[in-house]
Amino acid sequence: MTKPIYIINGPNLNLLGQREPDIYGSQTLTDIQALCRDAAGKRDIVFSQHNSEGAMIDQIHEARTYGSALLINPAAYTHTSVALLDAIKTLDIPVIEIHLSNPAARETFRTLSYVAMGATGTVSGFGAQSYLLGLQAAINLL
Ligand code: DQA
Repeated sequence: MTKPIYIINGPNLNLLGQREPDIYGSQTLTDIQALCRDAAGKRDIVFSQHNSEGAMIDQIHEARTYGSALLINPAAYTHTSVALLDAIKTLDIPVIEIHLSNPAARETFRTLSYVAMGATGTVSGFGAQSYLLGLQAAINLL
């Protein structure tokens, strides 16, 4: 049986649709989850959202054991978390960093991504489509 693709979402992404829609769009995380499930076809998706760093790390460890690939939108922890970087560096499956917005075109503090240093690649700036492009990339790599 093929292992599922894990999609992990970080803090405040539970508020998508209400949160700064001019930047993050009007789709909710539930909408994005449905789009990902459709695009994944027969592949299983384990989709989750966590507001704390420790919970994200626990889920990364789960992906390490049970996942075939990991898509991760680390949200604000992108720019601060060596712990998330260390966690994804323990994985030997494709790790795709996802952002709805293009952090490189925003505030200076968003231009640094710790997670990018351990990711296979990054997709950012395409709104909900970033997830679908990332998913396609992951599937192509499997
Ligand atoms: C984000 C970009 C981050 O800088 C920000 O903190 C987020 C969302 C994005 O998807 O564009 O919460 O990861």
